[in-house]
Amino acid sequence: MKKEYRKLAEEAQKAKLNAYAPFSKFGVGAALLADDGQVFTGCNIENSSYGLTICAERVAIFKAISHGASKFKAIAIVSDDPGFTLPCGACRQVLSDLTGNIDFVMMNAKKRFKIIKLRLLLPFAFTRINLK
Ligand code: THU
Repeated sequence: MKKEYRKLAEEAQKAKLNAYAPFSKFGVGAALLADDGQVFTGCNIENSSYGLTICAERVAIFKAISHGASKFKAIAIVSDDPGFTLPCGACRQVLSDLTGNIDFVMMNAKKRFKIIKLRLLLPFAFTRINLK
């Protein structure tokens, strides 16, 4: 386990503290590591019109893109669930479009890690443009 990834998961835990999840009561934190070492964090932000809720992972990638970052290494995801929190299908597709074959770093409540490549989580992904 890379020390870099442990630190990334800690950043995700900090971001989770800002989760706005009054409906599900399920806070999620994410931290996206760019190639140059910059870290962009995100938390889930729910909405009273439930479908407008945005996941922590998409907040992190949209922040990164809007700051001009374009190359990424990994994204860490944490929640209060005792098990590992895997990204939803929508986030897999968005990250597939905007990042390369990055590592998904999941840390559970016991601080154990599961690391899975994006291409394994979303094989045969839909794509229109081959940017990477
Ligand atoms: N959620 C995330 O933020 N990321 C995930 O990977 C899974 C789900 C959020 C959406 C919603 O606010 C809450 O978790 C419960 O589904």
